[in-house]
Amino acid sequence: MENIISCKNITKVFDTGETQTRALRGVSCNITAGEFVAIMGPSGSGKSTLMHVLSFLEQKTEGEYFFRGKDTKDFNEAKLAYIRNQEIGFVFQSFNLMQRVSVFENVELPLLYDFYTKTTQKKGEKKTNKERVINALRSVSMEHREHHMPSQLSGGEKQRVAIARALINNPKIIFADEPTGNLDSKSGLQVMHVLEDLNKKGHTIILVTHESRTAEHAGRILQIVDGKIVEDVIVRNQRSAKTDGILK
Ligand SMILES: Nc1ncnc2c1ncn2[C@@H]1O[C@H](COP(=O)(O)OP(=O)(O)OP(=O)(O)O)[C@@H](O)[C@H]1O
Ligand SMILES: [Mg+2]
Repeated sequence: MENIISCKNITKVFDTGETQTRALRGVSCNITAGEFVAIMGPSGSGKSTLMHVLSFLEQKTEGEYFFRGKDTKDFNEAKLAYIRNQEIGFVFQSFNLMQRVSVFENVELPLLYDFYTKTTQKKGEKKTNKERVINALRSVSMEHREHHMPSQLSGGEKQRVAIARALINNPKIIFADEPTGNLDSKSGLQVMHVLEDLNKKGHTIILVTHESRTAEHAGRILQIVDGKIVEDVIVRNQRSAKTDGILK
């Protein structure tokens, strides 16, 4: 089984001149393709920082990070841009949709970043952008809202659109940082069902949450306290990853 994430003694120090904050103090973990992992822990314990380091939104200070078996210290900016665009999807607590463009255009956005990656159209990919956007919206049951503006959607619907955007390039891994944090329990549950469904289809999911009922959807729970993993528990047998994703 592919070890999709493997990290050893990762540290992250935020240096703001006057103060130094040690947000991560030696994190080691392995995550296998197809896993659904929840990261829990108190506020300020380093959960978001860990997600940002693992998804290349932030640089680690020290330690080793192997992504899909490759040492990330050898990755240049072009490689990182490619991974962020093609292999990783990120879902934020506050949705981060662009307010001035439609649902359709929000989901289409990552397809337009080929300025950096030059490879948005995957080998053998025959689908048009329109088909891919509609497919992604369908997978979160939002295809009927393609012409809406984000302001016309409920919180749960916004998050489902954000998930569609994260999915559009059929990434191997989806990182979700408190995706249900701004939602009522019913919409939160819908979002969790979407993530569960994606995991069943082969996507690796790494989720940060405060809520134990949200973490129960995962197969494994990491507890992080004060920048360190203090507990790593498999809560149920997880499916092995299929190589085919949903949007192919
Ligand atoms: N850009 C930054 N500059 C300086 N310090 C930071 C920065 N980002 C995070 N920190 C600090 O690093 C520590 C870990 O923050 P992080 O956001 O990872 O916590 P968290 O576990 O996600 O918390 P929460 O549950 O509240 O979202 C905190 O002490 C925080 O203040
Ligand atoms: Mg956080």
